[in-house]
Amino acid sequence: MTEILRVRGLRKRFPGVMALDGVDFDLRPGEVHVLLGENGAGKSTLIKMLSGAYHPDEGTILVDGEETSIRTAEDAQRLGIATIYQEFNLVPQLTVAENLLLGRQPRRFGLLDKKKMYGQAQELLDRVGVRVDPRRPVHTLGIARMQMIEIAKALSLDARVLIMDEPTAVLTTTEVEQLFEIVRQLRDQGVAIVFITHHLEEIAAIGDRVTVLRDGMSVAEVPAGTPEDELVRLMVGRSIDQQYPRERSDAGPPLLEVRNLTRAGVFEDISFDVRAGEVVGLAGLVGAGRTEVARAIFGADAYDSGEVLVDGRPIPRGKVGAAMEAGLGLVPEDRKGQGLVLGADVRENLGLVTLHRASRGGFVDRAAQDRAAATMAGQLNVRMSGLGQEVRTLSGGNQQKIVIGKWLLAEANVLILDEPTRGIDVGAKVEIYQLINSLTAAGRAVLMISSDLPEVLGMSDRVIVMARGRLAGELSAGEATQDAVMALAVGEMEEAR
Ligand SMILES: Nc1ncnc2c1ncn2[C@@H]1O[C@H](COP(=O)(O)OP(=O)(O)OP(=O)(O)O)[C@@H](O)[C@H]1O
Ligand SMILES: [Mg+2]
Repeated sequence: MTEILRVRGLRKRFPGVMALDGVDFDLRPGEVHVLLGENGAGKSTLIKMLSGAYHPDEGTILVDGEETSIRTAEDAQRLGIATIYQEFNLVPQLTVAENLLLGRQPRRFGLLDKKKMYGQAQELLDRVGVRVDPRRPVHTLGIARMQMIEIAKALSLDARVLIMDEPTAVLTTTEVEQLFEIVRQLRDQGVAIVFITHHLEEIAAIGDRVTVLRDGMSVAEVPAGTPEDELVRLMVGRSIDQQYPRERSDAGPPLLEVRNLTRAGVFEDISFDVRAGEVVGLAGLVGAGRTEVARAIFGADAYDSGEVLVDGRPIPRGKVGAAMEAGLGLVPEDRKGQGLVLGADVRENLGLVTLHRASRGGFVDRAAQDRAAATMAGQLNVRMSGLGQEVRTLSGGNQQKIVIGKWLLAEANVLILDEPTRGIDVGAKVEIYQLINSLTAAGRAVLMISSDLPEVLGMSDRVIVMARGRLAGELSAGEATQDAVMALAVGEMEEAR
């Protein structure tokens, strides 16, 4: 079969880093081609050159066998290449419909034809099976819905090549299945699909071929049926023997106590403890209220009644400063919005929380701070040109590592992690788990929210499950199986979304 797209010897340098250092890549119509590689390997950079966002320093791109230069997004669109980026490209203030039809809203007598616009938007939403009112402003939606809207938008361009950069990172199992259905349909219609993921189990489920990138180079092209440990070896250059290296510590007194926490219409009567030395997993479907509870505990959102105690002392509600002072930390789900200062460098971002503390004491030891930041970046294997690199220009997974690193450095007594390893490669995940182990070994407490069930099961000493804003049950590590958790999580959730 002839290739729709051929990439030969692609190179791209950024200040201080060779992002791509010789990449070959072939894409055929009617295949799902997975791009695999560690955080910072160059996956997003490669696809940005196919979509006209970046320009190669060297190398050639052939479309339908002809050498082509893709200078702009319009060039890409004309060639039939549509891209769903890792960072969302939606305009938060605009409605779903306006986002879907941006730049091509239907008009009548020169005026916006709203009725037609909502109708067209509804059709696009139906194609991906997402139930959302097209009149809703995008910023009111959860992250999973935003992703589905991105997908609906890309599909509406009738692309021959559809590029998806980590589309499943923010989706739940059911939504992933929905997405795979759509991808299979498109593939069968002859669309060529580039698919980036850090979830290895998805590769065999949806892929046909895999191109592995390592340090900016394409190092292998293998069938999607290649065993996972072989894929890992190609990707990180070594094998990983234990994916979830949880080392249990003896549980001490409760460090975090949540008592009857209630916020009308969001969550109700939530009570649980996390003891010193424990990792407690908080499982549930998207929309079950886990993030909302975490934010309320941390003081980022208000609640109506109930109480939060840290180390036996009640903390005032709705006050992040007081929560931090009491030793609480939160790694938020939405890292772009809440976790990072994108325009600042790695050094500053890693030091954000510690600095806040130190400045209160009136004395900042810059040199010590730099050493701590460098050590943390090294432990988490952050791919960067140096501590002075702007966080905006780090790869997605490396940005996530900075959000986590910041809180690990802050030495919070109780750390709440909301989807901590989203977008993180398999090797770096193990590093993060080991850092969690060292926290609990030092007598700290960790509450971990994750939609990645194997992660919850593999790393938690206890699992509490939420459904529809309520506690659905608690399972010990021994009782917590995939089925047991799902049974509680789904409970009476049938039509909840
Ligand atoms: N605009 C930029 N300026 C400077 N460096 C950049 C820029 N864009 C990317 N880089 C660097 O290029 C390298 C490759 O990044 P890229 O985003 O392609 O990685 P990735 O494989 O997509 O990783 P991830 O899995 O974390 O998303 C990284 O070291 C990154 O910091
Ligand atoms: Mg990327």
